[in-house]
Amino acid sequence: MKWTHSQQDFIKMCEEVANHHKNTISYTLDHLAFRTENRNESVELLSKLFDYSVQEEFLPFADSSNKDNIDITCAALSPPVDSNMPEIFVSSGNWRSIVGDWVKNRKDVGGIHHIAVKIPAGTIEEIMEQWKQYDIEFTTEKPIVCEEDDDGLRQIFTKEIPQLGNLIIEIIERGEHGFCSSSVAKLMESTKK
Ligand SMILES: [Fe+2]
Repeated sequence: MKWTHSQQDFIKMCEEVANHHKNTISYTLDHLAFRTENRNESVELLSKLFDYSVQEEFLPFADSSNKDNIDITCAALSPPVDSNMPEIFVSSGNWRSIVGDWVKNRKDVGGIHHIAVKIPAGTIEEIMEQWKQYDIEFTTEKPIVCEEDDDGLRQIFTKEIPQLGNLIIEIIERGEHGFCSSSVAKLMESTKK
């Protein structure tokens, strides 16, 4: 096959990007997060399709004075043991809440709000610097650390990435705990426009 000049330029650019990442940081798909109109229906379907089970349900804004978001509910779902599937989070929210508005703006059905990639402990700032070179922006200046229990869980959201259909990517350094309710609230607040 004969490549045109623009195809050759594109291939060269891909090779340069691939080389740049060699021997640097390894990423693992950690979880997917849906925001949907009816959390229970989403959870039920994921259980039927893939045998997911509810690990925990929580209200990230239950203790805050943020009345608009008080009814946001989240479910953390675990895949079957020995599965290679990622964890899944599903959130729903009332009218005027961060989650409810997001769903409303997506034809009242919502969708995948973000995917999360896990990275080795202590590398989040380095990755942020790398990604900024590719014009990726973040919703907070610094990673969010769990208030309740500082066991190494650190997270940050990118802003919507147009080249990926406005998907948000979460970068996560995991501690022992799967998630942290106050961090979920802060991350959600950071996505409010
Ligand atoms: Fe997440």
